[in-house]
Amino acid sequence: MNGSSHAPGFTEDVELAGHIIDSLLLPKVLDEITGLGGDYRSQEIRIGHARRDPSYVRLTVSAPTEEILERILTAIGQHGAMPVQHQDVRIELADIEGAFPEGFYATTNEPTEIRLGGHWIKVERQEMDCGIAVDRTQNRAWCVAMADVKPGDPIIIGRIGTRVFPVGRDREGGHSFGFMNSTVSSEKPKNLTVREIAEAMRRAAEGNGRILVVAGPAVVHTGSRELLSWLIRRGYVDVLFAGNALATHDIEQSFYGTSLGISMESGGGSEEGHEHHLRTINRIRRIGSIRQAVEQKVLNNGIMHDCIVNNVPYVLAGSIRDDGPLPDVITDSLVAQTRMRELVQGVTFCLMIATTLHSIAVGNMLPAWVKTVCVDINPATVTKLADRGTFQTIGLVTDVEPFLRILVQELGG
Ligand SMILES: NC(=O)c1ccc[n+]([C@@H]2O[C@H](COP(=O)([O-])OP(=O)(O)OC[C@H]3O[C@@H](n4cnc5c(N)ncnc54)[C@H](O)[C@@H]3O)[C@@H](O)[C@H]2O)c1
Repeated sequence: MNGSSHAPGFTEDVELAGHIIDSLLLPKVLDEITGLGGDYRSQEIRIGHARRDPSYVRLTVSAPTEEILERILTAIGQHGAMPVQHQDVRIELADIEGAFPEGFYATTNEPTEIRLGGHWIKVERQEMDCGIAVDRTQNRAWCVAMADVKPGDPIIIGRIGTRVFPVGRDREGGHSFGFMNSTVSSEKPKNLTVREIAEAMRRAAEGNGRILVVAGPAVVHTGSRELLSWLIRRGYVDVLFAGNALATHDIEQSFYGTSLGISMESGGGSEEGHEHHLRTINRIRRIGSIRQAVEQKVLNNGIMHDCIVNNVPYVLAGSIRDDGPLPDVITDSLVAQTRMRELVQGVTFCLMIATTLHSIAVGNMLPAWVKTVCVDINPATVTKLADRGTFQTIGLVTDVEPFLRILVQELGG
């Protein structure tokens, strides 16, 4: 197996193992090598025979310059191709607050290990677009966001001593839902897909899983808030992420029976209805918080009420278009990100329904092994998520109301 045939200048031997053929990792690696101006020669190739057998390939990668070789090794490293010669990571201390040293290793959302003192250790809090900080005394490494860097933090530089295990390379660790592995378009039947999502949620709720729901205001506008409330009350939601709009319209419905002024009973606009959401926010601001409104029995039902009564933690992250906002909304986006990062730890299943902003924000924080389902009426939302690196997303293009209705039915509601 050879690529094109320019004379090798700078070379490095790399190896790639696992389910590298059926997951298409090997073709991706070969394509990256030639696409970036390099070449390869295979030194050893063993193809697994049975479905579960792993395969193994050792290649000599060559490139005309050291820079091109480095670029190729960084790119193929993301697909799990690692240098045969193992070395420890290079570490530099952060010199200023809120920025990495130049040349920092930039993370992916795939499981990653680093080599420290001759041993490989797993990187904790895996998240894309971060750096990696290490603690040599405790033999630990974790992803750190740029804004959280403190002067003196030991940060990994370059790709040497790092290795990535792309999800899907190992069948056991794979993220697929069985037959469901791509976007389900608006033209395809969905009941079977929703049944499989229900099954995944049931397994998570009954086992050690942790379910995160990310929801937009269309959940309330379409009259589905009782369905989401049901999921919360029945233990199918461990964490909720949303913005000001979902919480406001949910509480507006509790106070006035409207969502953005539209009656949820008749569908008609009510007199002064457009003011309802402002009056709702104002009332909660006067009381101090959603929790206090529940404790004072001013708020007696709905999504936010049920989160509080059932001890489901939530983050309401602010955005520039927010009215009010509600006092619970975290308006400093870095503080909101930090709180969200804490709460995504241990999440095994994520359901994103009817919000582009919050779905993409959360997608960026989730490791690649978290099963993620994105339900949106607009196929572009799902595409955007995948384009930004949340490849594990299963997209369902549909109105959120029938989706939640069938999901709740499948779960016994
Ligand atoms: N008055 C307010 O304070 C106010 C009002 C609106 C939004 N916001 C805030 O703005 C930010 C972004 O809001 P967002 O999440 O609504 O906007 P968004 O544009 O990020 O997402 C809305 C998504 O809902 C989808 N959608 C619409 N109707 C649907 C349906 N019936 N079924 C399925 N999907 C449907 C759209 O395709 C879109 O992807 C949030 O932080 C929100 O809280 C504030």
